[in-house]
This record gives sequence, C-alpha cells and structure tokens, in this order.
Amino acid sequence: MLVRQLFDLQTFTFTYIVAADFGKDAIIIDPVESKVDQYLKLLKELDLTLKYVFDTHVHADHITAAGKLRELTGCVTLLGQETGAACVSQTVSDDEKLIIDGVEFTVLRTPGHTQDSYCLYTPGMVFTGDTLFIRGTGRTDFQAGNPVDQYNSIINKLFTLPEETIVYPGHDYNGCISSTIWEEKRFNPRLAGKTVEEFKNIMDNLNLPNPKLMDVAVPANLKCGLI
Ligand SMILES: [Fe+2]
Repeated sequence: MLVRQLFDLQTFTFTYIVAADFGKDAIIIDPVESKVDQYLKLLKELDLTLKYVFDTHVHADHITAAGKLRELTGCVTLLGQETGAACVSQTVSDDEKLIIDGVEFTVLRTPGHTQDSYCLYTPGMVFTGDTLFIRGTGRTDFQAGNPVDQYNSIINKLFTLPEETIVYPGHDYNGCISSTIWEEKRFNPRLAGKTVEEFKNIMDNLNLPNPKLMDVAVPANLKCGLI
C-alpha cells in the first residue's frame, strides 16, 4: 500500500495520495487547488493513474483541486450525497465501497463538522477529514455543523474501528501528522471521558474566527473549485 501525505502550508491542510502500489490507480483525498502541479508531478513519478478525487466535505478554508484534476486527468470526483455541489461526478453514501486495484475503501458518513462530512476507511488506516483531528476535532459552528452529530460520528463510528487503525486527519495546526484510534480514545481532550453534553459545551464555546478564505472557498467549492 502506498500512502503519500502532503501538506499545504497556507491552510494547514493534509492531502493524501493512496494506491495499492507504484504503477497502479490512485485516489487523492482533499486536494488543494494551488497544489495541482505538485500532485501531477508526483503521480507521474510514481507512475500512478488518478482514478478518484474524494473531498471529505465542502471545505471552507481552501479551494478544492477536484474540478481542475478532473479536467486535466479525466478522474471521477466524489462527495457525500448530502453535498450541495452539483458539479461533482458521483456522490457516495454511508458504507459504500470503492475498490481500487483490489484495495477496498469504505465510505463512512460522519456528519457534525458539516452535514456532508465523510471519512474513508481501509483496513489499517482511516482518513478522517475534519471530523477527527489529532487531539482535537473539526469545528461545528458553520455549514450546518452540529456538535451532537459530531460526537456520535466519532464515538459510535470512528471509535468502533480497530484500535490500531492509523488516523490521518484533514488538518493539523500543531505539527502532528498521524495518530491511532487507540490514542484518540484515550488522549483526545475533547472526547476522552466526555459526555455528549460536555463535548457540546466545549464546541459551543470555542469562539474561533471564521477561516480567512471562507467567503471565497465555499462558493468556489460548490463549483468543484472551478471559479
Ligand atoms: Fe472543513
């Protein structure tokens, strides 16, 4: 299994290129529009054919590269079925399977950060988008976010995955790159030992400023990043 984790310094976004091996088909998770050249170069170097782009949700902090990558490679773009982005090639729903060169990925519906938030699981690793971060979680105060849904998505879905599963988040603001379900169950300060009421209280009082690009990114991403 080949996993490449890429980082956008402007928005602290992780993008993942995943494939069964060199020379096979690939999926890109949460690509950033300004990094398209980097992705294309790496795909070429690793002899990968881009089959899918999966956005874990409609992002508010960066513009997706989904539309551009589809134009340039003919790949299929994916978003959860609750999305408002009519431009997407194909929508996915909870528990749907994607098979790429024999590797099975399971789509997990995990609303809370947004109502169209999804994670992608394959045995050994889960790509958690903005649902679960390392020792944190995605915010729930816009785009129809809901802390109770977020809590249920994490506790009743992500935390039921095998504990050794590697957590690859959509962002990190503290210099971490991966974690495991085992660690987050025990050490995530918003979740470990917390009731849903306690979690909601934390999330309702974060008082975060809106992302700098929000007014640009959301409308652009509803058009698959093609503006
Ligand atoms: Fe987000």
